[in-house]
Amino acid sequence: MNTVRRIKDNIYYVGASDNRLELFENLFPIKDGVSYNSYVILDEKTALIDTADHSVFDTFIENVDHVLNDRKLDYLVINHLEPDHSALIKEIAILYPNVTLVLNERSKKMLDGFFNKQLNAKTLIVKEGDILDLGCHKLTFVMAPMVHWPEVMVSYDITSKILFSADAFGTFGALNGNLFDDEFEKDSYFYSEARRYYTNIVGKFGKQVESLLNKAKELDIKMILPLHGPIWRTDISKMVELYSKWALYEAESNDVIIIYGSMYGNTMNACYALANQLGMSGVKNIKMYDVSKTDVSFLISEIFRVKNIILASPNYNGGIYPKMVNLLHDMKALNVQNKNISIIENGTWALVITKQIKEILDNLKNIRYVGPELKITTTLKDSDNLHLKELAKLIADNYFAA
Ligand code: FEO
Repeated sequence: MNTVRRIKDNIYYVGASDNRLELFENLFPIKDGVSYNSYVILDEKTALIDTADHSVFDTFIENVDHVLNDRKLDYLVINHLEPDHSALIKEIAILYPNVTLVLNERSKKMLDGFFNKQLNAKTLIVKEGDILDLGCHKLTFVMAPMVHWPEVMVSYDITSKILFSADAFGTFGALNGNLFDDEFEKDSYFYSEARRYYTNIVGKFGKQVESLLNKAKELDIKMILPLHGPIWRTDISKMVELYSKWALYEAESNDVIIIYGSMYGNTMNACYALANQLGMSGVKNIKMYDVSKTDVSFLISEIFRVKNIILASPNYNGGIYPKMVNLLHDMKALNVQNKNISIIENGTWALVITKQIKEILDNLKNIRYVGPELKITTTLKDSDNLHLKELAKLIADNYFAA
């Protein structure tokens, strides 16, 4: 049975969700699944906006077929060629042989790469500002390179004031019968999953996201239809505000998080002692994460969210604890900026890793190290208490700073 939803007038949701996939991109845990959104506009001409992942083939095709109701498909607009949205282009071209693929020059080159020039479909190459006239609806195109791939564009329906935003404003998480932001609890988990999606998938490309947001400011947008997650029609300004912060690498909160690696609990205990001092200083909502137990994608999301971060690691084979190394490299790869960072180092053989941590984070902008790092030998001792309290005070001062 189809799972079509009418969005507005003659615009329909034809996407589908997958709750079986463990890892998005074979990388990011998605215990609540993911949706692959796709949309149909019925007008004098018909248009499908992006396809979907292979995993939802049956539902997607049934949905498209149901909405078209024996009409032919005139256009397939390809906003993004990553296979979670492009995998079914070939099937659409076979099922609807009259279809014209609407895409930009960069996408055309990529399309040949994915389909080895086996697609016989007609193509219409579009560029920024071009208009595709469907009758009543008129789609214009805005190039959005690197949000998330180089070929990405977004489409704006001038008539309905709807932005088909590709990956932008997308989230992890399946859609379980609810589609619009106002059908979920206020401040629903989709906001945190939007952050985790953004920071890990697009986080590196803040400048390009900023550029898209600037272009979007020129548009009167009543609804955002992303390729993953809910449709934003009520809280658009909140999402745009969050995107602006993330694109500029601005923290959402002065909160403090502590991320530690700990083989036998000694580094963890030092972190609890520090957290206790912070709590006694009035710092609220402190979060602690074991780097071995928390997937790095959640840590990156939290690192983007907060201003004050404590990283604690034991020495391991003369270097940084491997799980912490992985996190540090991800922070670097995703261009983390504007953070206060404090370091706790624990060494039984030697104390050598603070320098290594700083070297990895060396090129990141506006990283401010708070306090002299706390170096402990195997376990936190009474002799470390003064230093620990001083460090806690400095971190608390930053937390309370406006
Ligand atoms: Fe949802 Fe970049 O693909």
